[in-house]
Amino acid sequence: HTFDLVIRNAHAATASDTFKCDIGIQDGRIAQLGLGIASGSKEIDAQGAWVTPGGIDGHCHLDEPIPPPLRMADNFETGTRSAACGGTTTIIPFAVQRKGQSLREAVSNYHDRAQDLACIDYGFHMIITDPSEQVLQELPGLIDEGYTSFKMYMTYEDMKLNDHQILDLLDIARTKNAMAMVHAENADCIEWLTRRLEQQERTSPRYHAHSRPMLVEREATHRAISLSELAGAPIMIVHVSGKEAMDQIRWARNQGITIYAETCPQYLFLTEQDLGCDDRYEGARCVCSPPPRDKNNQQFVWQGLSDGLFTIFSSDHAPFSYDSPEGKKPGGKQVPFRRIPNGIPGLETRLALLFSYGVLDGKLSINRFVELTSTNPAKAYGLHPRKGTIAIGADADLVIWSEDPQTIQNINLHHAVDYTPYEGIGLRAAPGLTLSRGQIVYDHGTFKGAAGQGQFLRRTAPTLQPIHSPGSENQ
Ligand code: URP
Ligand code: ZN
Ligand code: ZN
Ligand code: ZN
Repeated sequence: HTFDLVIRNAHAATASDTFKCDIGIQDGRIAQLGLGIASGSKEIDAQGAWVTPGGIDGHCHLDEPIPPPLRMADNFETGTRSAACGGTTTIIPFAVQRKGQSLREAVSNYHDRAQDLACIDYGFHMIITDPSEQVLQELPGLIDEGYTSFKMYMTYEDMKLNDHQILDLLDIARTKNAMAMVHAENADCIEWLTRRLEQQERTSPRYHAHSRPMLVEREATHRAISLSELAGAPIMIVHVSGKEAMDQIRWARNQGITIYAETCPQYLFLTEQDLGCDDRYEGARCVCSPPPRDKNNQQFVWQGLSDGLFTIFSSDHAPFSYDSPEGKKPGGKQVPFRRIPNGIPGLETRLALLFSYGVLDGKLSINRFVELTSTNPAKAYGLHPRKGTIAIGADADLVIWSEDPQTIQNINLHHAVDYTPYEGIGLRAAPGLTLSRGQIVYDHGTFKGAAGQGQFLRRTAPTLQPIHSPGSENQ
């Protein structure tokens, strides 16, 4: 046989094309594309189903070191298993720097957590929480070693940076050509609103959304854009939740400032009402930041996905179980919203939701779907063209889609979280088969991969084109 594996009769889609072909895979890479190619030791008939590049989740949180009693439900094994079962073949979670810690230590600690557990390939972003003089000095070396992106928080007491610190880091991002990611919410406004709500004894989960209205995201988004412009370094604004923040991004691009933007499933499928319409604690399940907005904002986010305002679509998977003393009930208790760990799971459901409600409902072309979920994350984070496309020489990371209607149910998911915020949502299609470097890691409901199979990816500089004003022409 000429190939290890041949996928016959694929309806392949990349960010730019769709084509019918057979895919010849050898040594984990795509070796040939064409109709009627030679035989493989193994053959799979795709029967005309869509075949897309494996998903790249450029924003997910796994096994981050956090103060007890809190603990993330997913480690590298359960997280990557769940990702693979949802058609994602590469993840880039975060190596978090604790205050006083060197970035080197943070990264090396995180390698230990991934070692022998990852079932799919992975890189690390850094989260920089303490940009001391030493840290500013060690950062360029880490970028050179393949950690070519880092996240900065404008909020969270133990993580937030001030504008001066952000500028120092953006200056390094500019000189080293790294991708700087920004969590844009105004910390002081949130703290002021939170105290006022607490004085009024409004502490149930739904008030989390009241403490972080769109205004606090809009202000911080505009400020992040200004800092990016001042430092001359493009940024990726992560988890953009709705219109007012999108308006800032569109404005920036019209000024000629290159700003990249990410959104996530929670801003398409959840609203503030999912945090509760009364004081019941169940809403803690959907506590995340920024919080989900309203139906109107969901429509703007869909529009931004289709018209180019958004660069990438990530899960922001942040796995805390609901009925757990390590999760949404810290120490076993229902706590005021301030103390509910932020974040919701979404690694496994990201692609099926966007495919079903975007592509199959006619809101997104299949090419745009691939661009948002795979090609652009690969380009933004220095993995393209090895990852993020179907091309000769690229890794054989592929999804064969199955257009069988089904319903999202947590019992069928492969993460270690005890709920999904998308329980009961219907899907028109889902990944049927996932291949990671030519190996089947998921087959119609069953995980087929193995812990330790995933490789660490040293990443290069971003290769996204500067954005002039896509996302603004049609407005
Ligand atoms: O609520 C969220 N999104 N938690 C995850 C951490 C972050 O800020 O992305
Ligand atoms: Zn964030
Ligand atoms: Zn996040
Ligand atoms: Zn199938």
